[in-house]
Amino acid sequence: MDSGYWDEKYSTEEFVYTKLENRFVVEFCSTLHGITAIDLAGGEGRNSVYLAKRGWQVENIDFSQVALDKYMQFAKEENVQEKCSFSCASALDFVPKVSPVDLGVIAYLQINQKDLKQAIIRLASNIKPGGHLFGVWHSRDNLTGGFGGPRDPEVLPDVSTITEALLGSNLEIKVLENRDGQIQTREGLKPSVTLVLLAQVKL
Ligand SMILES: C[S@@+](CC[C@H](N)C(=O)[O-])C[C@H]1O[C@@H](n2cnc3c(N)ncnc32)[C@H](O)[C@@H]1O
Repeated sequence: MDSGYWDEKYSTEEFVYTKLENRFVVEFCSTLHGITAIDLAGGEGRNSVYLAKRGWQVENIDFSQVALDKYMQFAKEENVQEKCSFSCASALDFVPKVSPVDLGVIAYLQINQKDLKQAIIRLASNIKPGGHLFGVWHSRDNLTGGFGGPRDPEVLPDVSTITEALLGSNLEIKVLENRDGQIQTREGLKPSVTLVLLAQVKL
């Protein structure tokens, strides 16, 4: 899906992914320390603004300018616009305004596994030694009994695809696991599997 698809999806007053920070970002990132962060494919900025409110200087890098405009408006409403910046760029070849940073977040970037590897490695290359990379995705394991997220296996990572993607990289995996949860559907609450990654850039 190209940026035009995402621009159109975001062309609504409502926040497509809400203004509420992702609960796994809270669980994994609230205890991390640092000053600078990149929220790669941060969209309308729910996680960027959350981090900014916790004191991080955050750059949201996404290829949808429509999403980024909503994010900056949201940052203003929350009085953290000075902590928030953006770049409208591809996750595959972005050049951050500030690099290296202390933390990289990549939340629900559901793209093919070759491109996802490139995005993760590029993000990791812009994180300081000892800094962290946190990732969260709808898991491929959702295809067998789970709900929510895309149904194309190629855009769904799992423990093995992420392990393979990080082989030989500068990242040391701290946590890489599926989390069982629930998702609201028209037919009520259904099981849903989320893949989480916490990695640290090797010293
Ligand atoms: C499902 S949304 C998640 C947004 C945000 N991370 C969140 O959790 O609310 C996926 C985001 O990835 C962005 N995206 C998809 N492919 C991209 C690419 N190749 N380069 C940059 N951004 C991309 C889209 O514009 C969209 O904002």
